[in-house]
This record gives sequence, structure tokens and C-alpha cells, in this order.
Amino acid sequence: MSQPATTSPLQLGRQGFGAMRLRDTKSGDPDRDPFRVVNTALDEGVAMIDTAELYGNEELVGRTIAARRDEVVLASKFGVVRTDGRPDGPPDGFEVRADAGQVRRSCEASLRRLRTDRIDLYYLHHRSETVPIEETVGAMADLVRQGKVGAIGLSNVTAEDLRRAHAVHPVAALQEHWSLAERTVERDLVPAAAELGVALVAHSPTSHGVLHGAAGDAAPADERQVVHREIAAAHGVSAGQLAIAWVHSRGPLHGLEVVPLPGTTRASHVRANVAAREIVLGAEELRRLTAAWSPTA
Ligand SMILES: NC(=O)c1ccc[n+]([C@@H]2O[C@H](COP(=O)([O-])OP(=O)(O)OC[C@H]3O[C@@H](n4cnc5c(N)ncnc54)[C@H](OP(=O)(O)O)[C@@H]3O)[C@@H](O)[C@H]2O)c1
Repeated sequence: MSQPATTSPLQLGRQGFGAMRLRDTKSGDPDRDPFRVVNTALDEGVAMIDTAELYGNEELVGRTIAARRDEVVLASKFGVVRTDGRPDGPPDGFEVRADAGQVRRSCEASLRRLRTDRIDLYYLHHRSETVPIEETVGAMADLVRQGKVGAIGLSNVTAEDLRRAHAVHPVAALQEHWSLAERTVERDLVPAAAELGVALVAHSPTSHGVLHGAAGDAAPADERQVVHREIAAAHGVSAGQLAIAWVHSRGPLHGLEVVPLPGTTRASHVRANVAAREIVLGAEELRRLTAAWSPTA
């Protein structure tokens, strides 16, 4: 009998919120208040809040969700550590640490920082060149059995990693970069995830903000901009919203659950990004947009 992917059903929701850039800015701008940003996401029906040990903001994320913990599918990641000894700011070096001891230590530290007794979705942040994925996932499976983790995820891995990991313990979700401008995932990972019934959490659906300016005013416009602008205008939406809508459209096409994971530090941008869920693109619009952004176009 196969093991369940989770100890309880994991409802990722249609769109997640990426908290990577969230900081205690004290900017005085209410639109950039991290409490307001996260609570706006929850108010707008987002369930999954995504952070990582590496982001240096688990304490902040824990504080922002404390009063609404039961509403949240809390996702975090371990395995990529800074080697510059600083807790925050632009990093000056990383290392992948994914041995069983690191899995246990990282989880305990994240639970403490997040002020919770359970991480609903816990990812290996990046594949290791030295530690077999079976060792890493074996230790993650122990955390599931202990109730400290709800479900297992992988990020920045290969299709072979996914298959090997899945043979040890069911993987609930992959987190990979997927956008109009970044399609590598479609080659091997998407088919493997579809075959195994693994959800694809598509991080950076606007390629770190680039696609928010995709229909920008710069002249002369290239073919991508022309098509992007035209379709965005037809729906009365922004370039970034159209880019996120395109990622939403990938699930039915590829036969798997796809959850776009945009990130922002502004409550107003949260609302705009969540609204992209409702944009319905026609088959011909999708064909034109996909072709315009094709890596070979
Ligand atoms: N697993 C991994 O290796 C990995 C790597 C990268 C990211 N991630 C995850 O994916 C999430 C998103 O990644 P990301 O932030 O790099 O990419 P993104 O969502 O594609 O882009 C974020 C950028 O777009 C801007 N933006 C967001 N919404 C906007 C809007 N409505 N209008 C105009 N600008 C807007 C943001 O600035 P403002 O703050 O001003 O809105 C920010 O500069 C992260 O938070 C993290 O959870 C995972």
C-alpha cells in the first residue's frame, strides 16, 4: 500500500504568497507594512504563505500569521545556508547542506522562529551534490511521522531526484521557477510531476518582476511586447497580471496542479496578483502569448 503524500489533505489553494522579500521595513508606508501585506493575502483567499530558512524572515512571517495560524498552509525550506555569517542583507555565499542531521536541526530552528509546532509543507531548497536524496527525504519522512511536518516538497531538483525521493516518501509539491520567460521546467520536471501526482508550485511567475514591465512603454516594441500589450489591454489587466494568468492556465494543459507563487512587499500588489486568478484567456490568446515568449521565438 502506498503512503499518503501528507498526513492530512494539503489544500495549497489556487495561488500562494511568496514572502521572500518581506522585511520589517518600518517605512511608514501602510501599503508596505508586512502585517498588512500578509493579512491582505489571507483576506483575499490565499492559503499558502511561503518562506525559507535562507530568507532570514521566518520570525517576521511567524509573527504576521500568529493570530491566523489555522488558516495558513505554512511552507518553509531548508538546506541552503549562508556562508557569510550574516543573518540578512545581500548574501555573500551559499552552501547546500542536506544531510539527515541538518534536516532535523533546520526544522527545529524553523519551528522556533515561525512560532509553530508544525510546518505544513517543508521543502529541500536545493539539490545536494554530495548527500543522496534518499538520506535527505528519509529524514524529512521522520519529521512527517513525528507530526512536525505535514508534507514534503522539493525545490531546484531534477526529474531523477524527484523519482528517487518519491520512492522513499510521497512528495506533495515541487517548487520551481516557471513563467512565460522561464520554461525549462516543462522539459522533464512537469511531465514527471504530472505522472507522479505531484503539485507544481510555480515560483516567480513574473520572473522576479521582469514580466510586470513586459508591456512597458519602451519603444520600439518587440513582438513579445506587442502581443503581450494587446492581450493585456483586451482584458483590461496589467502585463504582470497577464503573466500570472498564463501560469494559472498551465495546470489543465499539462495535467497537474499548478499553483503560481508571486511575491510582493505591497498590499496593493497582493490584490492585483490574486486578481489574476480570475482572468480567463482564450485558446488563441494562449497560443499567441506562448508562442511570442517561446525561447526559440
Ligand atoms: N525555491 C526557490 O529557489 C525560489 C527562488 C525565488 C523565489 N522563490 C519564491 O517565489 C516567490 C516569488 O519570487 P520573486 O519575488 O522573485 O518573483 P516574482 O513574484 O515573479 O516578482 C516579484 C517582483 O515583482 C514586483 N511585483 C510583485 N507584484 C507586483 C505588481 N502587482 N505590480 C508591479 N510589481 C510587482 C515585486 O516588487 P514589490 O515588492 O514592489 O511588489 C518584486 O520586485 C518568493 O517570495 C519565494 O517565496 C523561490
